[in-house]
Amino acid sequence: MIGVYDSGIGGLSVWKELIALMPEQSYVYVADSAHCPYGAKSPDYIIDRARAVVRFLISEGAEAVVVACNTATAAAISYLRSHFTIPFVGMEPAVKPAALASKTGVVGVLATANTFKGSLYRDTVMRYASGIRIVEEVGWGLVEAVEKGEVPSELIRQYVTEMTEQGADVIVLGCTHFPFLQEEIARVAGPSVRIINPAPAVARQTARVAASHAVSSAAAGAVPVREFFSTADPALLQRAAMAIDPALTPDHFHHINIQ
Ligand code: DGL
Repeated sequence: MIGVYDSGIGGLSVWKELIALMPEQSYVYVADSAHCPYGAKSPDYIIDRARAVVRFLISEGAEAVVVACNTATAAAISYLRSHFTIPFVGMEPAVKPAALASKTGVVGVLATANTFKGSLYRDTVMRYASGIRIVEEVGWGLVEAVEKGEVPSELIRQYVTEMTEQGADVIVLGCTHFPFLQEEIARVAGPSVRIINPAPAVARQTARVAASHAVSSAAAGAVPVREFFSTADPALLQRAAMAIDPALTPDHFHHINIQ
């Protein structure tokens, strides 16, 4: 069984790719929505949440965990890898494919403040984006809007034009909540701008990790597990997940306090 977690519903954009690639796998998902957004919280706070959520996922049977949150990956993945024995897959800032795809040599990255502060992001930029200008845009307010099921057109217009006016022809969605806004981001950016969502690549990496660590999937003929927990009201998680997989029912969704 694979555990997946995010500060909220954003990680469903990764879960969607996971179930498409490995439908036979069992999944348990935690949306830490009571503590969302993580974007400007201290690294220690995010590590505390990561530790508690991962313990819970392991108690539910997770044999590997996908940290489906760029912000939690930036703050906590090193801690998790050194304190737990199961394998972890984190979000990669997709700067490398963006740099390769850009013709203008300008790449926009839309992420949270904490993701930009992380060494993972900085190292990736150093390694893969030499000669490329990166326009870093903090998507203030976007995560909160997605958690309410809203598409904040005015904020999106502001952030996207900030990047395109500086010449960006590729925009990286550096937060797992943002694929929920991809249609509007693409509409504002226009057809000449490519939008990169790293979720499919993260799903492929998870498949490699699951295979190399012999993560067990549902037995032949058995129905794979699909369980969802939210530390807040699970109503939006339920709506968003059922939009991805209509076979889910309300019984799959639970409220949980994770301390
Ligand atoms: N989905 C999270 C990410 O990928 C959102 C972080 C937040 O809660 O601010 O960064």
